[in-house]
Parts: sequence; structure tokens; C-alpha cells
Amino acid sequence: MPHPAQPPQADGYVFDRSWAREHERLAALEQVFDEATTERLTALGVGEGWHCLEAGCGGGSTARWLARRVGPTGEVLATDLDPRFAEGHGLPNLTVRRHDLLADPLPSAAFDLVHARALLEHLPGRAEALRRLVEATRPGGWVVIEDFDIEGPMVAAIARYWPAGHRALADRLYRALEAGFTAADADAGYGRRLPDALDEAGLTEVGARLHAPLLPGATPFLVLTLRQLRTPLLATGLITAQELDEAVDLIQRQDVRYVPNVMVTAWGRRPPR
Ligand SMILES: C[S@@+](CC[C@H](N)C(=O)[O-])C[C@H]1O[C@@H](n2cnc3c(N)ncnc32)[C@H](O)[C@@H]1O
Repeated sequence: MPHPAQPPQADGYVFDRSWAREHERLAALEQVFDEATTERLTALGVGEGWHCLEAGCGGGSTARWLARRVGPTGEVLATDLDPRFAEGHGLPNLTVRRHDLLADPLPSAAFDLVHARALLEHLPGRAEALRRLVEATRPGGWVVIEDFDIEGPMVAAIARYWPAGHRALADRLYRALEAGFTAADADAGYGRRLPDALDEAGLTEVGARLHAPLLPGATPFLVLTLRQLRTPLLATGLITAQELDEAVDLIQRQDVRYVPNVMVTAWGRRPPR
């Protein structure tokens, strides 16, 4: 479905929100990572009557899953700087709102669960953003944060799971991704830093899991991500246009398997008062 173009971004976010296929790209991200997210939320006991905040909700699939899970006695607030893609869901207990996590207020000690995926890694003020999310959580409630680790030695680990003969290409591609994130003030290794960040934010019972899908070729997530990031990737000087095209062609082949990104899912509990 086409969406109206957004004004140019002043916040440095690496992804262009006005890109015509951004909704499709966010849906593709959900297709790959929702299973691990909902498994963790289920394991933490999210259920009937919970009040939840889904920050940086993107396409909104986790918000919709939460709304169904908490039922008519629960409530979900889904926020995003650009909430267009999560609107029109038809669920009476789900509110979608435009909200800048770095600037706009949130209710205090209000939510049994606060969840944010692939959000904090993009925010230059990520420690302050995490502090705000913790402050919005009721004492005893859970904070679940998920971010990628595509930094340093992890690049080599990801490249090991690309098809033989293409690992040097994967290595160049991920070094360019890491540099592209850094140039936009994002932290490509924030996933690795999450457990310590949750400790520092005062959470208890901190736990984490790192995971990565092995995708069959023609899965759209990374293809769309590389198309969306073409200009910033080439601007790093670490990959050529020809190499980028080669990588995109490769992961569209039906006969390949590869790891796109490593994700870290981390959780902790706000101590009871
Ligand atoms: C990579 S997407 C991830 C979307 C979703 N959390 C998911 O994992 O499917 C990051 C989202 O964060 C939003 N975002 C970026 N900066 C934000 C801010 N300061 N406040 C709220 N949302 C923000 C973007 O608009 C985008 O929808």
C-alpha cells in the first residue's frame, strides 16, 4: 500500500522513512524476528489484563500480538516517531500514537511490560531512552529490549554462515553496514552491550539470549535492507556498487542459505518499590 512521503529526516536515523518500500521492509523484519520476540514475551508470562508499551513499533506486528494476548482487560500503547504503518489495526485495546522516545513524555510506572526492538541501537541518546522506558515500567514489571550485534568480530561470525566462495563478500558487506550505522550515530554492537545497559538502568533478574536465523535465499528482509541503505553503504567506501549488487543477487537465489544479522534479546525487571 503506498504511503505519503515524509519530510526529510533531521534525526539522523539511518533508514529513510520516505522510502516507498519501507513498510514492506519493516514487515519483512517482523517475518524474520517475531518468532523469537513472542517466545520471550510468552516465557516472561505476558497474559490477560497486562498493560504494555511497544516503543518504536514500526509495522506494529508485536503490538498487535500483545493486544490479542492481553485480551479485553489489558491495554497496549504502541508508539513511533512515524506510526503510519501500525495504524488501522481494528483492535479496541491497542492505541497507536506518534511519539519521540527522546523528547516526548511517557506515563510513569504505568506498564507491566515495556518492549522495544531494533530501536535503541539507532538513538544517539540510547541511555536516556532506556532510562525513560524503565521509568515507564511499573515496579515489578518487565523491560525487554532487542538490538542487533553486527560489530567487529561478529561480522566474521556472520560471514561464516554465508555460502562458500562468498564469505569475503559478506565480510565486506557487514563491515560497510557497521560503518554505515556508525556514520548515522547508531551503535551496530548495542545488542552485545544490552545486558550491562539493563544492569546500569537499575533492572534486576537481567537475562539475555543471542540468536540468529539461517535464512533461505529469497527471504526479503536483508534484500530490502540493502536496497534501502544503498547510498549510505556506498558512502562508506568499504564496498563497491558491483559488490553490493552481487550480494543482493546472491541472497535472492533459491539455493542459498545465510545469516542476516545477530539479534540480542535482553530482559530485566524493575525492582519492586
Ligand atoms: C528498525 S525499525 C524497528 C521497528 C520494530 N520495532 C520492529 O522491530 O519490527 C525502528 C523504528 O524506530 C522508530 N524510531 C526511530 N527513532 C525513534 C524515536 N526517537 N522515537 C520513537 N521511534 C523512533 C522508526 O520510525 C522505526 O519505526
